[in-house]
Amino acid sequence: MADKAKIAILISGRGSNMAAMVYAAKTPDCPFEIMLVASNDPDAPGLRLAEAESIATFAHRHKGLAREAHDEIMHDAIVQSGAEYVVLAGYMRILSDGFVRKWTNHMLNIHPSLLPKYKGLDTYQRAIDAGDRVAGCSVHLVTAELDDGPVLAQTEVAILSDDDADTLAGRILIAEHQLYPATLARYVTRENDPDWILGQVRERAMALAETHERPSFGAPGWRVGSERTGKYFAYFAQSHHGEASIALLVKTTGTDEQAALIDADPELYYSPKFYGKSGWIAIRLDTGSTDWDHITERLYKSWCQVAPRRLTKMVEIADQF
Ligand code: GAR
Repeated sequence: MADKAKIAILISGRGSNMAAMVYAAKTPDCPFEIMLVASNDPDAPGLRLAEAESIATFAHRHKGLAREAHDEIMHDAIVQSGAEYVVLAGYMRILSDGFVRKWTNHMLNIHPSLLPKYKGLDTYQRAIDAGDRVAGCSVHLVTAELDDGPVLAQTEVAILSDDDADTLAGRILIAEHQLYPATLARYVTRENDPDWILGQVRERAMALAETHERPSFGAPGWRVGSERTGKYFAYFAQSHHGEASIALLVKTTGTDEQAALIDADPELYYSPKFYGKSGWIAIRLDTGSTDWDHITERLYKSWCQVAPRRLTKMVEIADQF
């Protein structure tokens, strides 16, 4: 199995979601390990549990400190622990923009409502008062806005006619304990998921001007120009023509550039079957450490090779400003 993803968990209190993570991490084949449990409150009950489970802990009170200064202290402790992801589990602090930025796409939160409904506090009572039939919980990526950011997964929880905020909270908590570790596991292994990889390529290919998707011999492909006369600039190859790898096929300027790329990094590039002869290059997307900026750039260069002159001319003009 590949290296496990290294996780730091931030808590402010009870820490039952943290406990769910800790025990999930002990199950066979769990793709993450807990490096640190940290809190803004040295008396948070969850810290004692983490200690008993031999997990490193860290606590620093926020009182008397500017938000940025406290976040900086927490950030340093997280980095020290070797963690690559931050999991917020009942961490009742608003985070500074600087902290959020440092952990972009690497920080998750759980919230006890079906977001975008009921951000903030009192979520259970608000759902009951609104007469909702279902409440629930959401795991989302953390962005600068409170309880915002792309939702990764949700669980719906039925509201019973005699529920009050406490009974509903109790059931939602059970759902949280199931949802959070499972969603984290899927998220940290997303780079091995062919559908996720395809989504990343598609987003970048379709962001270029006048492109459309059209499969070619069963493989997703992207063309520039009209539906009728458009030309292919990229293909997504998954076990294509018997090759085991997942790769992006793009055009180079010719076989010289193709050879130079393979020479420079033979682990990343190869000459794809059939297409290789005409100067296409395959870039592997299943290494687990894809440089997506590089993929964006390669898609653009390939697009430039085949795009109609009027489009590349527009780009040239825009580049001058
Ligand atoms: C959980 O219900 C979590 O969804 C909520 O705090 C509780 C923490 O419980 N988080 C938020 O409201 C965040 N906006 P725990 O300490 O037992 O995990």
